[in-house]
Amino acid sequence: MPDDARSESPTFDMRTLAGSRWPVPEWHFETIAAELGCAESKERMMRVVTTIPQQRMPDFSGIDWDRALAAFGEIDYPRYYTQPFHSVPGGYLSEAAATQDRGAMEAIYQDAHPRRSLGLREALAALMPADAARVVDLGAGTGDTAAAIARRLPSARVIGIDASPFMVIAGRHQNAGISNLELRQGFAEHTGLEADSIDAVNITLVFHEMPDVVKERVLFECRRILRPGGRLVLSDTPHDDLHDYRGFYEPYKEQWLVWDELTTLGEAGFVGMERRDVAPPLWSVVCQKPG
Ligand SMILES: C[S@@+](CC[C@H](N)C(=O)[O-])C[C@H]1O[C@@H](n2cnc3c(N)ncnc32)[C@H](O)[C@@H]1O
Repeated sequence: MPDDARSESPTFDMRTLAGSRWPVPEWHFETIAAELGCAESKERMMRVVTTIPQQRMPDFSGIDWDRALAAFGEIDYPRYYTQPFHSVPGGYLSEAAATQDRGAMEAIYQDAHPRRSLGLREALAALMPADAARVVDLGAGTGDTAAAIARRLPSARVIGIDASPFMVIAGRHQNAGISNLELRQGFAEHTGLEADSIDAVNITLVFHEMPDVVKERVLFECRRILRPGGRLVLSDTPHDDLHDYRGFYEPYKEQWLVWDELTTLGEAGFVGMERRDVAPPLWSVVCQKPG
């Protein structure tokens, strides 16, 4: 390992960061240690980690986490989801991931748009059909894209679905007061929504966090819930980006490197695929369920 790479390796107090609200398995700590100890440069990760505190972040101090989490009951998480994403112990099932989400996104995209990640989300929201009445954002995180869509389409009902109750709780807090926005816990591959009932589905920065088989299941679910002619907007990070972000554990980065969105969208029955890169460095594909 070159000396400069070793000296960049950050030291975090993982046990403190982990909290206790989701029992973090021991292998998370081992996996994170291996990622942080890798030889590659962690410069990009460190730039994000060190600039998060400079971002404007919501105040979550008013949340009673135990009480809020109790409302979700027991949830059976699939193994692919219980990974220490981004080297956070507990991954998305952690208070840390949820409360740092806005700040991390602002830090990652600080040079991408004058209004940082929130500006990118407005650009993505503009890809929604202007006459959509029911819009779903899958893997909504803390809901900032869903909120941008709800603000842009005030007469639409926008539902943001995320598997992590931590994300949903933080998202409800940080996007409170948007009356046409609902954030709920659920899985993108089985949303429970009625068939043919949704005008547009948005998916931003979610597929790089999923194994290929789950991406396919999610696309079939999108096709099921969209009305004929309904729109799907898929946006994500460049395929080689995760390999340049060492230190942030990304379990599916090898699959992401070679995943072919246009082919998979076609195989899932979508038509009219069009690249619309309105929020670089994110790429976007707009397509339809056949009418
Ligand atoms: C990188 S974050 C992106 C969040 C948000 N879309 C955004 O643009 O900021 C990925 C999100 O996808 C969620 N997620 C991953 N797999 C999921 C699944 N199967 N169903 C629902 N949400 C999922 C995670 O909980 C996390 O909040």
